[in-house]
Amino acid sequence: MRVLVTGGAGFSGSWVIRHLINSVQDCEVINLDLLTYAGNLENLVDVDQSPRYQFVHGDIRDAGLVDALMAKADACIHTAAETHVDRSITGPLVFTETNVLGTQTLLEASRRHQVRKFVMVSTDEVYGSLQLGNSDQFTESTPLKPNSPYAASKAAADLLTMSYFKTYNLPVCITRCGNNYGPYQYPEKLIPFFILKLLQNEPVPVYGDGLNVRDWIYVADHAAAVVDVLMKSQPGEVYNIGANNQRNNLEITQLLLSLLGKPQDFVTYVPDRPGHDRRYALSTQKIREALGWSPKHDFEQALQETVQWYQTNTAWISHVQERQHRENIAPGAAWLSKGS
Ligand SMILES: NC(=O)c1ccc[n+]([C@@H]2O[C@H](COP(=O)([O-])OP(=O)(O)OC[C@H]3O[C@@H](n4cnc5c(N)ncnc54)[C@H](O)[C@@H]3O)[C@@H](O)[C@H]2O)c1
Repeated sequence: MRVLVTGGAGFSGSWVIRHLINSVQDCEVINLDLLTYAGNLENLVDVDQSPRYQFVHGDIRDAGLVDALMAKADACIHTAAETHVDRSITGPLVFTETNVLGTQTLLEASRRHQVRKFVMVSTDEVYGSLQLGNSDQFTESTPLKPNSPYAASKAAADLLTMSYFKTYNLPVCITRCGNNYGPYQYPEKLIPFFILKLLQNEPVPVYGDGLNVRDWIYVADHAAAVVDVLMKSQPGEVYNIGANNQRNNLEITQLLLSLLGKPQDFVTYVPDRPGHDRRYALSTQKIREALGWSPKHDFEQALQETVQWYQTNTAWISHVQERQHRENIAPGAAWLSKGS
């Protein structure tokens, strides 16, 4: 089987490729990635020498290129996206262009070339926000109610994807995962952003009261679930992916402070970001029962290993930081640094 993976130089996409190359016999991978600020070929150093791996530098919105690649593919796993909520607040247009129009371009090519499966990698953020203080969870039939331009663009892509199943019988599936953590995550997202701040002996900036809850999952577990959906799912289905591990931002902060040997008050509270969702929690009964998938990593253990990875992979970090400096890329909290 030959799989076109979009966005494979990003964080989760690189783990999907790692899983396909290492765990799916004879699977060939074409990685189509634009190498935006978040794309990094160093995320793939352990698999890029495989004869079953090929990189193509290009844009998912380039219909000609996408068509040519899809003609060679049996299936597509679509992870390419603009992914940072803060950036979607200061610059939403590219989120619509990449996440909506890019997805449409891929769906059209998939339809033309009749791929065997199109897996749309989406997010729990499309469901909107839950309240604190109850045990409600998102299921796959929870209505979509996105609150940020990022989440809205992903929801639009999900709806387009499902329309191709209903209208053209394209064998699509959608995965909706909670917050990932692990090696190779671009250090603008909470966990690597905080680890790097602490490694530089700087206090970490916590939004608002810090009580926003996310459902955390180790990235390799997410990747394995996506590959299971590729291989085993029924077309037209949506699968939530999560590890039933809900923590608020202060709890994550406290864990990171102790793992890095800093005092518990090494925190600066900063104004909350606009439209900040309060709580996410996912029911994952469907994927566990239908596909037999379950997460394999314990949160505390995997978080500790993640911290160690950032402590020891100094070349990866300095290359990312050199590029941030060279290209004037804000390392995090984009809407704050632009003063809006
Ligand atoms: N990271 C998470 O916590 C998480 C959770 C749930 C779902 N997801 C979903 O997983 C996917 C990957 O997220 P991530 O955080 O790992 O991403 P990321 O930001 O680390 O990487 C995104 C990748 O997409 C590429 N890309 C962007 N625009 C492109 C374009 N026009 N053409 C080709 N490539 C392009 C970038 O170069 C980059 O390599 C996204 O679809 C996201 O919605 C992520």
